[in-house]
Amino acid sequence: MTKKSQTGETSPFLQRHTVLIRIWHWLTFLTIASLMITVLLASTALKPRQNIKFVQERLANKGVTVTDEQAFSVAHGYDDKMWDVHKLIGYGLAFLLLSRFLIEVVQPNGDKIRTRIKAALKLTTTPTDNLKEIKHYLLVKRGYLIFYLLLLTVVFTGLGLAFEHDLAFFDQNHRLIKKVHEFCQYLMYGYVFIHLCGVIIADNRHAKGIVSGMINGNEEGK
Ligand code: HEM
Repeated sequence: MTKKSQTGETSPFLQRHTVLIRIWHWLTFLTIASLMITVLLASTALKPRQNIKFVQERLANKGVTVTDEQAFSVAHGYDDKMWDVHKLIGYGLAFLLLSRFLIEVVQPNGDKIRTRIKAALKLTTTPTDNLKEIKHYLLVKRGYLIFYLLLLTVVFTGLGLAFEHDLAFFDQNHRLIKKVHEFCQYLMYGYVFIHLCGVIIADNRHAKGIVSGMINGNEEGK
């Protein structure tokens, strides 16, 4: 499982990625990045309370005077539109999560995350000069499993908020579901940050070519 990098070093990270996983990875990247942008816009530029004055000034320029409450209602309409977009992209993320489970089922055995973890665990019990790297590899792969659990929580609570008026359970637990959804988003930001730093550092040090591997598939890897 230890493969040579572009500069000749060996690393277990230089693995093959099937076309399905690569497409899934980059679609997930785009989807999560878009979700982050909608949250950012809704909580800054489109925040209803902060736009009351803006609506009032714009209307005053046209000779119309409106109360704070009336202006708030207009400002809220734009914020609602952004959350509608957030909800639609969220359905896309739910679909991607489901497809990740399906990909795991149909992937060749050697490319499954479970098989890779098992193979790496086996290597830690045999004499190797690469033990530190293999332990790091195990940590990263287990980190992906935690990420998938996090994604499951975010998707489940997101669907709970989207369908709160359709199911009594979601309606009754609205506050808790919202809190968990909001809290998990911060864990996701943390994961994305660590993940980006990790692959960039790896590409500059022990696993040169790891990032392009997620683009070209690193077919000679295992
Ligand atoms: C929203 C942002 C991102 C998310 C949520 C994300 C998520 C993931 C996940 C879950 C995996 C594991 C896939 C598997 O099951 O095998 C993965 C692998 C990988 N990602 Fe990302 N990714 C993101 C952005 C990026 C970006 C921007 C890059 C490139 C600069 C990148 C490079 C990689 C690489 C090289 C791997 C394979 C690493 C390995 O074999 O351990 N990711 N990513």
